Amino acid sequence: MLLCATASKAKCCDPAEGLETWNELKRLLRNLGLENEQRQEGIVLRSKVDCLRVCERGPILVVWPEGIWYANVTSNKIETILRSHIINNQPVEQWIYKTTPFQIGPLQSA
Ligand code: FES
Repeated sequence: MLLCATASKAKCCDPAEGLETWNELKRLLRNLGLENEQRQEGIVLRSKVDCLRVCERGPILVVWPEGIWYANVTSNKIETILRSHIINNQPVEQWIYKTTPFQIGPLQSA
């Protein structure tokens, strides 16, 4: 999960609001057991990024490699996203900004 929340140029959101979202993401990933290395589905990794080149309607959250982008991810939305999308594999359609699924194409031979 990649979150633009406290960008150095702070274009997409208020950094104070973004920091709340980041802190809530960290707290809930831990509390919901999503960082537990014994988790059967694997651990969920998080990273705070400086800018995702959206620069509006932030905080912006990307779930990768599914390529699902959420906009306006205030801290009160984090639990819904984690429970619905990450735990139950049901993306929260009404908050999706765009989708850019990661695809691996066939290797090209030289
Ligand atoms: S500053 Fe957040 S996407 Fe660019």
